[in-house]
Amino acid sequence: MLKNDNFLKACRREPVDCTPVWIMRQAGRYMKEYRDIRKKVDFLTMCKTPDLAAEVTLLPVDILGVDAAILFSDILIPVEAMGIGVRFTEKKGPILSNPVRSEFELNALLTPDNVKSEEMMPFIPQAIRLILQELDGRVPLIGFSGAPFTLATYMIEGETSRNFTWIKRIMYTDAALLHRLLEKITTTVIHYLNMQIKAGVHAVQLFDTWAGWLSPDDYREFALPYVEKVIKGIDKKGCPVILFANGVSGILEQMVDSGADVIGLDWRIDMGDAVRRSGNRVALQGNLDPCVLYGEPSVIRRHAKDIIDKYGDGPGHIFNLGHGILPDIPVDHAKALVEIVHEETS
Ligand code: CP3
Repeated sequence: MLKNDNFLKACRREPVDCTPVWIMRQAGRYMKEYRDIRKKVDFLTMCKTPDLAAEVTLLPVDILGVDAAILFSDILIPVEAMGIGVRFTEKKGPILSNPVRSEFELNALLTPDNVKSEEMMPFIPQAIRLILQELDGRVPLIGFSGAPFTLATYMIEGETSRNFTWIKRIMYTDAALLHRLLEKITTTVIHYLNMQIKAGVHAVQLFDTWAGWLSPDDYREFALPYVEKVIKGIDKKGCPVILFANGVSGILEQMVDSGADVIGLDWRIDMGDAVRRSGNRVALQGNLDPCVLYGEPSVIRRHAKDIIDKYGDGPGHIFNLGHGILPDIPVDHAKALVEIVHEETS
């Protein structure tokens, strides 16, 4: 039994005691406790050691008082299970070996089914079970996956990209190759999320971080159908599905049609517009500019209140940032945000 289920109620657009809030990347380098663990082990080892992943997942619940925990892991974990080497560098972020740019690399990819997923990523269900024990029902646990298009950008570019020239080159020269890659990723993501749901997560978020870099027509061809396939294909067991993209303004209506229960918004869309355009058909998550947290609590309050007011009185708002929290944000400011959202909505 959950002691605080405001987050899940908001996902289902049911009334809540106060607006639930969590923060994307809430367990990260802005926290001293995180940096202390990271001094001793590299990031991937943290992800793959259930004790450490559980410890780090709990930090923001204990320190900030957020209304949901999110599994500590990374969207590139299942990419590694598909047979691509992944490492994380301090300066450039993730670097992938043998990026997929031709038939040859595509054919070599694995698509781990449910049995293989558990064999190759046993640390995921292990971490989930540990976290659920340690949470002891305080707040729900969110599982997640990268959405197919965003995972494809990493698999093709080989790193975080500025212009996505490799994936777009393939999109406009050999669309069939890209579709075949997206199919393989979709199959992998379905099994990967089913593994997390079976282990007990209460909700799942699909991160389509880079989908907003597509034109609306390309989104309709290369991103939306695969998100829909994932949402239809997973055995949800009642878990709400959150679909997040960075740069939603050109694709919001399509995202609303995806079958997701909640749409995660970046900060470049006005919350009032998002409410009108989504027509009360989904819950909305977001959407404070992550940089507002550089400001003093009075500034944070003004901007948070603005979003809360624009969402209005209806049910179904989950407060969050419009993208991940930055590594140099003062922890006190993140904590202040959580308090402010609760105060202003109760
Ligand atoms: O939200 C959470 O607290 C859960 C953990 C989580 C991480 N990454 C931890 C992480 C989640 C949900 C992610 C998702 C993720 N990973 C996304 C989608 C969300 C988004 O931010 O758009 C993406 C694109 C990635 C890929 C990734 N992982 C990049 C580009 C980087 C480097 C950038 C950076 O901040 O260093 C990572 C590394 C990463 N993922 C860190 C953390 C805490 C930092 C690693 C470190 O300790 O050095």
